[in-house]
Amino acid sequence: MSRILVTGGAGFIGSHIVDAYIEAGHEVMVLDNFHAGVRENLNAAAALVELDIRSPELEVVMREFRPEVVNHLAAQIDVRLSVEDPMFDADVNIIGGINLLENCIKVETRKFIFASTGGAIYGEPKTLPADEQTEPNPKCHYATSKLGFEHYIKLYKALYGMNYTILRYPNVYGPRQRPDGEAGVCSILTGIMLQGKTPTLYGHGTPLRDYVYAGDIARANVLALDHGDGTCVNTGSGRGVSVRELFDTLKDIIGFEGEPDLQPLRPGEIDQIYITGDRAKEVLGWEPQVSLREGLARTVAHIRSAAA
Ligand SMILES: NC(=O)c1ccc[n+]([C@@H]2O[C@H](COP(=O)([O-])OP(=O)(O)OC[C@H]3O[C@@H](n4cnc5c(N)ncnc54)[C@H](O)[C@@H]3O)[C@@H](O)[C@H]2O)c1
Repeated sequence: MSRILVTGGAGFIGSHIVDAYIEAGHEVMVLDNFHAGVRENLNAAAALVELDIRSPELEVVMREFRPEVVNHLAAQIDVRLSVEDPMFDADVNIIGGINLLENCIKVETRKFIFASTGGAIYGEPKTLPADEQTEPNPKCHYATSKLGFEHYIKLYKALYGMNYTILRYPNVYGPRQRPDGEAGVCSILTGIMLQGKTPTLYGHGTPLRDYVYAGDIARANVLALDHGDGTCVNTGSGRGVSVRELFDTLKDIIGFEGEPDLQPLRPGEIDQIYITGDRAKEVLGWEPQVSLREGLARTVAHIRSAAA
């Protein structure tokens, strides 16, 4: 049993990770400023601190709870906002992260697990699926701040011996995802189709993404407690799924009868990105278990019940 601090634990992915840690018998504290977090996501068995990761009060919280593991998900995740307001993006994703790392050293945290992004930092690689050797090529401030912070984590290992695992997520989807995030396309399409409206598919529906179910990502985070030390791991499926395939699957699940509005890709949007899961299998013993159809069916059921 470990004492684990989960920053961003009231958010979409963080709340699934908190549930998985509690289920596995760990003691969990959620730290979230509710910038995008939702109280209904909170697991009743987890302690809660409502605080910004940039706050000087973080030291008091960390000294009291003395987390053995910190799983860091709190972030500015909006790609467009990162381009419009790069100072805010860096303030949360880099300065806030450094505040956390500094306090991890003070309280001798054993391990730091970081939610990085394989969907954004590789840009538009020539060879797909992108593996961990693929040279990062960020196309926006968000991807740059996430990649930059990875280097800080490695620095804290080199300077202070702090153990870590960096997980580079693909497009994570599932219940509780907000429709305005980095990869909220499943929730966005579902919401629009459930209302009987016409969804827009950018890039005429051809762009490829790697969709992995949130529960599978949560399991990778449980495995990372004891595996994958000092390494960076893609948690992908290795499969690129077109937006059209996503639409068609949702159409079938929902019983939607309309057709989508096909539009060109918006400026700055990546056309194709999907990432490997081979190293994750090797070092974490992880691979995705929930099929796209099953995961989408669960997502639709969740959005339907929330709307009822
Ligand atoms: N959703 C994806 O597909 C995806 C893909 C790759 C990486 N990620 C990473 O996973 C993490 C979680 O993403 P998500 O989709 O669950 O987003 P989310 O917005 O649902 O969760 C982020 C949480 O962090 C909290 N937060 C934001 N700023 C904070 C601050 N300054 N102090 C304290 N709390 C703060 C928010 O209130 C929210 O609860 C992020 O680090 C994101 O970069 C997500």
